[in-house]
Amino acid sequence: MTDTPWTQLEKHQPQSLIDLFKSDKDRVEKMTIQLSGLRFDLSKTHLDSIVVGQFEKLAADMELDGLKAALFAGAAINVTEGRAAEHPAERGNGDANSVAHARALQDRMRGLVEAIDAGFMGDIQHILHIGIGGSALGPKLLVDALGRDGARYDVKVVSNVDGAALTEAVTNMDPHKTIIAVASKTFTTTETLLNATSAMEWMREGGVADPYAQFVALTAYPDKAIEWGIDESRILPFNEAVGGRYSLWCSIGFPVALGLGWSVYAELLKGADAMDRHFRDAPMLENAPTMAAFSDLYYAQTKSCQTRAVFAYDDRLRLLPDYLQQLEMESNGKSVTADGVPLGRNSAPVTWGGAGTDAQHAVFQLLHQGTHLIPVEFIASKTPGHDFDTAHHETLLVNCFAQGAALMAGQQSDDLAHNYVGNRPSTTILLDDVTPSTVGALIAFYEHRTFVNAALLGINPFDQFGVELGKQIAKSITDNRPSGFDPSTTALIEAALGEI
Ligand code: F6P
Repeated sequence: MTDTPWTQLEKHQPQSLIDLFKSDKDRVEKMTIQLSGLRFDLSKTHLDSIVVGQFEKLAADMELDGLKAALFAGAAINVTEGRAAEHPAERGNGDANSVAHARALQDRMRGLVEAIDAGFMGDIQHILHIGIGGSALGPKLLVDALGRDGARYDVKVVSNVDGAALTEAVTNMDPHKTIIAVASKTFTTTETLLNATSAMEWMREGGVADPYAQFVALTAYPDKAIEWGIDESRILPFNEAVGGRYSLWCSIGFPVALGLGWSVYAELLKGADAMDRHFRDAPMLENAPTMAAFSDLYYAQTKSCQTRAVFAYDDRLRLLPDYLQQLEMESNGKSVTADGVPLGRNSAPVTWGGAGTDAQHAVFQLLHQGTHLIPVEFIASKTPGHDFDTAHHETLLVNCFAQGAALMAGQQSDDLAHNYVGNRPSTTILLDDVTPSTVGALIAFYEHRTFVNAALLGINPFDQFGVELGKQIAKSITDNRPSGFDPSTTALIEAALGEI
């Protein structure tokens, strides 16, 4: 069998984490990358010079530099859908025409934000953002992370088609003082349109004479929004080449721009811009998204780790794991390469996680003593997001760092119930503070890391055909209750929805 970087990586046995530190007193410095108020510490992973060297070879074989150049040039790297992936252009990095187009659409959004502030849509106090997947997870994360010091408007994000979610969201809203932002790249998503219709009904029942006048659409297909009944003046379009899970930078970020203020939105873009430039220009060994992807691939591919866990040790970032689940799993959960051949390797691991310190009292037992090897990621901020006693923040950070140390060092005991094997990897991302700029850089970091993972596996991270089959079956059940399902599905349909 010919040697490839993968076979070399599989053969190589790095030292234990503790020994890696012993054999290189500069390891922390070498394996820590700092930029834009973020510190990425990869030193507690098994990346050594051999592992990194093989990934450098793999990156050359897979033409990572060429793919990066194509990403930033706005070339059609989403090959299955024949289009570019132009989220960096929203941050000012990409094909000049796309950057100018993005700016023009952002200016349009700014115009609407200023008009609403000036009373164009009446006395507004609430924003109900309706979307799902990439059209909801970003706004939800950002409003929760950055809106705690007092948002300018009350913002709620509704995604689930379960009417209970909509009921809860509108409970304390005055329909006369509410803007409904319907966020859907395609403007065809069943859940979103049903929620939008019911929200319209809620307004009517609340006595709003012309509910349409309180609707705003955020979409790459303005014609569909017009057809749905929303006036063109309240439609904020975006470039079709921005993928759903990369869309918080364009008009899908409207509740951030309106709810938290234009300066927050602008700072968010600036933070992402800094990360774009770092990713584009920094050499491989100093490149945070690239090195983090090497670590991801090392564990998922050569150690068969089926999951990776992300814990936000900052309540403001508690929704980050949810956001990353879509970004990483919808992008790289594929068993076919961009060339249409079987992947022949593991796809992306399952991303899961939670918030520290809560998770310590629930799932960390398995991380320390379970039989699975799970790379863990900690995200924390040097600065607290509250004014309570400093003991809170100190306890939070102490616990975060203690977990990483314990996973790595373990503790040997003859009594196996009390034995911690150790040598378990973790990465830590430490923010100076949770600000629009650091959060923008953090999200862009994850986008580019996902891109490098895809590039080195040969995957197209920008399509998501795997979600279609379930949608088609749901539609056919809704439309005509066809027969021919398996007995279990037939019985469930009959039990809950009536005779087929
Ligand atoms: O079904 C998956 C998906 O297409 C995601 O990729 C997307 O973010 C989400 O649905 C919502 O799609 P849309 O923004 O078109 O409503």
